[in-house]
This record gives sequence, structure tokens and C-alpha cells, in this order.
Amino acid sequence: MKSIPEGVTVVEHPLVRVKLTRLRDERTEPGEFRALLAELALLLTMEATRDFSTLPCRVRTPLDDYEGAALTRPVVIVPILRAGLGMVDGMLRVIPGASVGHIGMRRDEKTHRPACYYFNMPPHFAQADVIVVDPMLATGHSASEAIAKLKEGGAQSIRFLCVVSCPEGLAQIRGAHPDVPVFTAAVDERLNEKAYIVPGLGDAGDRCFGTV
Ligand code: URA
Repeated sequence: MKSIPEGVTVVEHPLVRVKLTRLRDERTEPGEFRALLAELALLLTMEATRDFSTLPCRVRTPLDDYEGAALTRPVVIVPILRAGLGMVDGMLRVIPGASVGHIGMRRDEKTHRPACYYFNMPPHFAQADVIVVDPMLATGHSASEAIAKLKEGGAQSIRFLCVVSCPEGLAQIRGAHPDVPVFTAAVDERLNEKAYIVPGLGDAGDRCFGTV
């Protein structure tokens, strides 16, 4: 029995497990891979936004007045380039009013630490509910650094959403950012010597964009 760190939600809906199985399958081609990744991102978003606050919002139906709900705060989706891009469309389907910021991380050859080479956010990101996305949470260093950059810029409400994670990545991100809840579809066994998640699904960016 795996122990799941506090602040981590594993979304174990049957549809999530079925779609993730197809995503992992090495025979799944990029077109289907992208569609599955978008659907998984949508399903994970439903869980990650469960506690979003809403304001009363009055509308007129063809028959009567109705008091419904509108989101209290703006939402900013932040994919970590490049594989995170594969999750954005599915999320925008359920939060069409969200803005999208982008973060590019690369490994610094001297320090071997992730360094940010691209940071482009909408002007209101510090006041928004920010959802950082990357399909794979491997070592957790890129995700932690990306979140640190967002905090430096003033972001206060941050969630992290991934499809496949592993104990090492979860320990890293929760250790560095205990205030950031993590949502994942699976916690796999381990990282291998090349920092790939096992059993995982391979390189998510390559499989998404057909660059293998
Ligand atoms: N990035 C990937 O795309 N896959 C892994 O297994 C680890 C990091």
C-alpha cells in the first residue's frame, strides 16, 4: 500500500484509470495521445477546482430570474513547456474564461538545476487562482522552480496538476511548497537512472508532438 503525502489528491475515477491506461500504452499514436491527455486534464481539473469560491450571479432564463454562480477570482492556467501544452485545451473546455501563462524550464548545464528560460504571464496572475500543469511529475525540480517563480511574481493561490507522478517528485514539490495542493491521476513506482517515471508512459512531450 503506497503512502500518499498530505496535500496530494489521487483522482481514481474509473474513466481516469481507463484513459490513463490507453495513454500509457506504447501503441497509442500522437493523435489519440493528445485527445486522451486533454480529456484527462479536463477530468483532473474538475477535482482540482472543487473548492473554488463562487459569487451569486443573477441571470434571466426564458421563463424567470435565476440566481446562480460565477467564479470569484480569475483563473490562470500555466503549462510548463513543452508537454504541459497538451493539457491546456482540455482545461479551457471547462474554464473557457481562464487565461494561459507559459513557463519554459531547462536544465542548467553548470548547476544541473532547472532554470527558467521563458516566463510569460497575464498581468493579473498574482490575483488569480493559478493552476500549474505538466503531465509528468518526475524529480519535481522543474515544477518546484516554476512555482517558486510564480510566487516571486506575487501569486498566492497555486495548485499543481499532473497525470503521472512518483514518490520522489511528490516529496520534492510538497517539501518545497507545502501550501500548493497537488492533483494527479497516478502515483507510479519510481524514477529510473535517467529520471524517467517507471512504469510511466515514456516522454510525454515526444508522444504528444510525435518527435520520437
Ligand atoms: N518527463 C517525461 O516526459 N516522462 C518521464 O517519465 C519523466 C519526465
